[in-house]
Amino acid sequence: MPTFHRALAEADLAEGQMRGLVLNGLDLVLVRTKDGLYAMDNQCTHGAARLSEGRLRGVRVICPLHGASFDCRSGAVLALPARDPQRAYPTRILDGWIEVELGS
Ligand code: FES
Repeated sequence: MPTFHRALAEADLAEGQMRGLVLNGLDLVLVRTKDGLYAMDNQCTHGAARLSEGRLRGVRVICPLHGASFDCRSGAVLALPARDPQRAYPTRILDGWIEVELGS
């Protein structure tokens, strides 16, 4: 059975925003789009940059360092120079909180 971890009050992340946070020792970026809430690793797979400090365009998260972009729904690479996807995590909203399932 998956275990979800409480991450952030739902009211603290508006549509079109990203937020970096550490949850159970993992550096994550939470993303809210018009379609939903998503979570993935915050550290870019290409180098030493945090995606939460980049830009969000629709579902596209753009790294602030070299401009690679990732689909926040899956972590898939949308634009080079990154070649490896971000790890993505399931999310849910429960009792006004955004929760993230971190896996084992
Ligand atoms: Fe993110 Fe290079 S560190 S694209």
